[in-house]
Amino acid sequence: MAGRSVVVGVGHYLPERIVPNAEFEKTLDTSDEWIRTRSGIERRHFAAEDETTSDLATKAAEAALADAGLTAEDIDAIIVATSTADLTFPSAATMVQARLGMTQGFAFDVQAVCAGFVFALSNANALILSGQAKRVLVIGAETFSRIMDWTDRSTCVLFGDGAGALVLELQEGEGTAQDRGILATDLNSDGRYKDLLYVDGGVSTQSTGHLRMQGNQVFRHAVEKLAKTAETALGRVGLDSSDVDWIVPHQANIRIIQGTAKKMGLPMDNVVVTVQDHGNTSAASIPLALSVGKQRGQIKSGDLIVTEAIGGGLAWGAVVLRW
Ligand code: UT7
Repeated sequence: MAGRSVVVGVGHYLPERIVPNAEFEKTLDTSDEWIRTRSGIERRHFAAEDETTSDLATKAAEAALADAGLTAEDIDAIIVATSTADLTFPSAATMVQARLGMTQGFAFDVQAVCAGFVFALSNANALILSGQAKRVLVIGAETFSRIMDWTDRSTCVLFGDGAGALVLELQEGEGTAQDRGILATDLNSDGRYKDLLYVDGGVSTQSTGHLRMQGNQVFRHAVEKLAKTAETALGRVGLDSSDVDWIVPHQANIRIIQGTAKKMGLPMDNVVVTVQDHGNTSAASIPLALSVGKQRGQIKSGDLIVTEAIGGGLAWGAVVLRW
């Protein structure tokens, strides 16, 4: 017997405003064709002016709780993966806690940029397996539209806003790879690559700043590192790519998603793809894809899923779970 962190609920929220690629043609030297062929993105959602990350996170959390048939009273901890919290402090997670009317337990944010949800899932699993929490709400929520430089065509066309959430619950398993729940994780970072993807501002430098990215360099690292981290995580429980039902990747670029699947020897039929509709929503992209994948009828109970992501830091990693 072994404790496992099992997904018992999933949900998401996307802001109302949908912005198609063509919108950028009005202000930038770009085209729908360039954005589609280079990134796979067709449209993205942008939060309303008065809508914050914790607003999106709260709505995704409510949807995940409803899906689980639980209320906030059943939750012991909330982790929000985000790089775009409403305020410098307190954490977005404590704001969600208050909005859900939850006065017990604890809440905190995890910041590992686009790999944030993978890091948050791994942390939630550790809290559950060490007996510190029985049920954890794990949320990825972002408003990257707030840190775009709208004059920089190489970045501002790529990102979007949104939130997704999972409820994880401690359940007993057999201790084998057939168990439902999180089976393995693999986390990595290498701070030497800071300059490839960063925001040129922050509290300590006294500005908000804008996202800066050397896209083709990040692309090179992504193709090299994502299949490897996924295979490392699978190997930890004696599995390999041939056991995988669904890759649920970070949704940054369709060409990275295709390249990773190819390296893993899996067809695109085994990949949940949402990048065309959401753009890159950083830490929100994986829980959004899990929620949409379930809604579409792709992800079913018992399926073996590997999620993988890379982003600023660089930070990257993977989580293997049975749905
Ligand atoms: O989520 C965190 C991790 N982030 C990622 O995984 C993003 C990884 N990178 C990428 O997705 C891709 O590198 C991009 C989509 C950002 C760019 O695609 P690329 O094939 O790597 O293009 P590139 O950066 O090498 O640029 C090719 C050309 C350049 O022009 P020159 O120098 O060849 O004349 C750019 O100036 O495309 C130009 N370009 C654009 N043209 C039209 C860059 N952005 C645009 C644009 N519209 N929006």
